[in-house]
Amino acid sequence: MKMREQWEQGKPGMVMETEQQMLVIPVTRRQGGTGLFVQNVSGAMQQLMAFLLLLLLTCFFHPALGLYVSCLWEESFHIGHNVSGACQIHRPTPPGCQGQSLHLAADGQFLLPYHHTPDTGNFTVPAAPGPHLHLRCELHCPGPEPNKTCDITIQGGYPPSPPSRPQCHIPSDEHNLHCFWSPGGDPQLPTDYILHWEHTETEFPGSITVTTTNAIIPRKQFYVQSYISVWVIARNGLGSEQSQKTTFNTGDVVKPRPPVITEPIAYPTNLLIMWDVTCPTHMMTDMDDISCQAQYHRQDQDIWTEGEDVAQNAFLLEGLQAFSVYMFRVRCACPGSNQLMSDWTDTYPARTTEAAPVGVLDVWCDSREIDQAVVWKELPVSMARGIVLGYLVAVERAGGNRTVLNVSAAELGVRNGGSADAGPCCRLPLSHPGGNRGRRVRLHLSGPHKPCHLGSPHNR
Ligand SMILES: *[C@@H]1O[C@H](CO)[C@@H](O)[C@H](O)[C@H]1NC(C)=O
Ligand SMILES: *[C@@H]1O[C@H](CO)[C@@H](O)[C@H](O)[C@H]1NC(C)=O
Ligand SMILES: *[C@@H]1O[C@H](CO)[C@@H](O)[C@H](O)[C@H]1NC(C)=O
Ligand SMILES: *[C@@H]1O[C@H](CO)[C@@H](O)[C@H](O)[C@H]1NC(C)=O
Ligand SMILES: *[C@@H]1O[C@H](CO)[C@@H](O)[C@H](O)[C@H]1NC(C)=O
Repeated sequence: MKMREQWEQGKPGMVMETEQQMLVIPVTRRQGGTGLFVQNVSGAMQQLMAFLLLLLLTCFFHPALGLYVSCLWEESFHIGHNVSGACQIHRPTPPGCQGQSLHLAADGQFLLPYHHTPDTGNFTVPAAPGPHLHLRCELHCPGPEPNKTCDITIQGGYPPSPPSRPQCHIPSDEHNLHCFWSPGGDPQLPTDYILHWEHTETEFPGSITVTTTNAIIPRKQFYVQSYISVWVIARNGLGSEQSQKTTFNTGDVVKPRPPVITEPIAYPTNLLIMWDVTCPTHMMTDMDDISCQAQYHRQDQDIWTEGEDVAQNAFLLEGLQAFSVYMFRVRCACPGSNQLMSDWTDTYPARTTEAAPVGVLDVWCDSREIDQAVVWKELPVSMARGIVLGYLVAVERAGGNRTVLNVSAAELGVRNGGSADAGPCCRLPLSHPGGNRGRRVRLHLSGPHKPCHLGSPHNR
């Protein structure tokens, strides 16, 4: 059996060869032999080889090494701080080759050990910037042997900040206790969160480790209607921090279901939204002890506005635009010491009813063509306040003859050209009222609209 070094993508490893079989053991620092790959070896032989190798690793290669040099560094470092670690030569050290023959290249910067023993060199990389640091231990020994190296890339970051005090509730449709917290600053390193709990009277402790900022305490791990303390510890390679404890009665944290919005009552400028609230059964529900929040926005806007004077089961929103859709959502808290708000309802649309149009039409006359026409822009919905069914057009001839035309929106021609902000409406050819050519005509739309004057193109 013979051993040789394997250098693969900067990771030191070991290859052991027998006549027909080959075992490859990737060696990572300090965790030697945790991954063991066995190829082309039959069952019993495979187990024997694996056992021998583990024995070999345990007895001679602990902590795990490259064959001649190993990198003894933590996987993470504190950005901006000095980073210390060591390089180690595997015994027996080659002749004339000791700790002082070890050098370190840290991101290309060349360092000598600040301390050494016959087989170890200790190094400090000053004020290492992040986010990564590439380290190479080099053994520079006399003789024809090539210099030995090992490589490791370590990740920079920060110790965790203390997490916020966790907040827990039991969702309306289940029995487990859901807890959430915020992590504080970003440590930029993989960070574990350990959620701990303990019943204050019975000392029934438990914990769960997650990598997220929320965790679920299963129903069988806590008592209902009893006091429990909950806290979180954040932990990464650079340290750990604990949140403050929160203590509550598990009976007080049942989240109510979202309210159910019933049919709204709509007016041209007001909307009355109503809903039903169902509180968890064990809570005494006096309607007056329920508190609700409502939010709304017009459909074409997207920022929620907080409703004022929201009652326990209704909300009147006034001063709205007619014939417009408003979106609503509501949430409520049932009585109880924790006053847990339900989730928001789904967004609920309600439309105000129509009102008579307001405002002034932007009207002009088009006398460029033989086919003279009166032209106007469509009203925006804030002024139209409903679906425009038609227009009344008053035509007044120079002699004082006045005719009112009742034109439905559907029969109006679409105006071509014009500025982009003018809508597609509306063009009424004046051949329509019949034979006005060659006369001066005045015409206006019903209401207080400025008349436009049409002259004959043949008469100028
Ligand atoms: C040098 O490194 C070794 C291995 O990490 C460590 O055990 C030892 O305490 C270090 N010595 C000094 C002086 O830092
Ligand atoms: C970091 O290392 C430098 C040089 O190696 C030393 O002068 C300095 O005091 C060290 N800083 C800390 C905080 O240990
Ligand atoms: C090996 O180390 C010696 C002594 O420091 C150095 O002169 C030589 O360049 C190194 N060889 C290689 C291949 O890195
Ligand atoms: C006014 O004009 C209309 C349409 O051209 C016509 O039918 C009507 O007789 C006229 N009325 C008067 C009083 O001239
Ligand atoms: C205009 O015509 C529509 C449909 O024919 C009718 O319903 C409406 O009452 C008319 N309006 C006037 C002011 O004549």
